[in-house]
Amino acid sequence: MNPLDFIYNRKSVRQFKQTAVPNEIIVEIVKAGTYAPSPKHQQNWHFVVLQNKAIIESMGEIVRKSHERIGQLAKDEKDFKKHMSVINYYTCFKDAPVVILVYACPYQMLEYKILESNDVPREVLEVLQSPQSGAQGIGAAIENMLLAATALGYGSCYMTGPTHAKCEIETLIDFEQPGYELMSMVALGEAADLTPAQPPRKPLEDVLTFID
Ligand SMILES: Cc1cc2nc3c(=O)[nH]c(=O)nc-3n(C[C@H](O)[C@H](O)[C@H](O)COP(=O)(O)O)c2cc1C
Repeated sequence: MNPLDFIYNRKSVRQFKQTAVPNEIIVEIVKAGTYAPSPKHQQNWHFVVLQNKAIIESMGEIVRKSHERIGQLAKDEKDFKKHMSVINYYTCFKDAPVVILVYACPYQMLEYKILESNDVPREVLEVLQSPQSGAQGIGAAIENMLLAATALGYGSCYMTGPTHAKCEIETLIDFEQPGYELMSMVALGEAADLTPAQPPRKPLEDVLTFID
């Protein structure tokens, strides 16, 4: 057994059994998320757990309609159809027994504020911001959650697609945390039998460079 199996065995799961996930498991997975590194340890995240089937399904419908509305901006029917062909990428959370919404508040970079008040050129300020550290912290937290889910025997999917409907989602769930915005969600549950395998990776030599 490879000690890294919990990494290599993770895959995006988009079909779920309807069995409930115990609250202790959900809490453990979110806790694992909070053990991720974050820029200057600001822990700029907040997690909202949804388990109500009717709410999750309504959210799926809201995202479908939003995706359709956006698609209608396409110039012709052919492009609209192409846009709609990826609808499952946006709505596959709708059959999950649990959806964890991940909110973020902006990363407060002290150096940025100092330099900004010192009229440092915009290009310098842009370089400081370019790593999007706040978003990277959220990614780290979510990856921890996905790995924890895998290690505990659950399937999960990291999703940013549905966030185009974030305002309507907030209204649906009646949740608002001032200063925070919906960045991603994690669909979670027992994987259905026979879910598709993880897609192959680029060969390591294509993505890895050693410099002597
Ligand atoms: C930032 C991010 C956003 C993603 N958003 C979605 C999404 O909206 N819908 C979806 O079905 N999968 C989404 N995924 C999952 C990717 O499609 C998936 O990780 C990739 O195809 C590789 O497959 P694997 O996770 O099975 O290894 C997202 C992944 C990441 C890291």
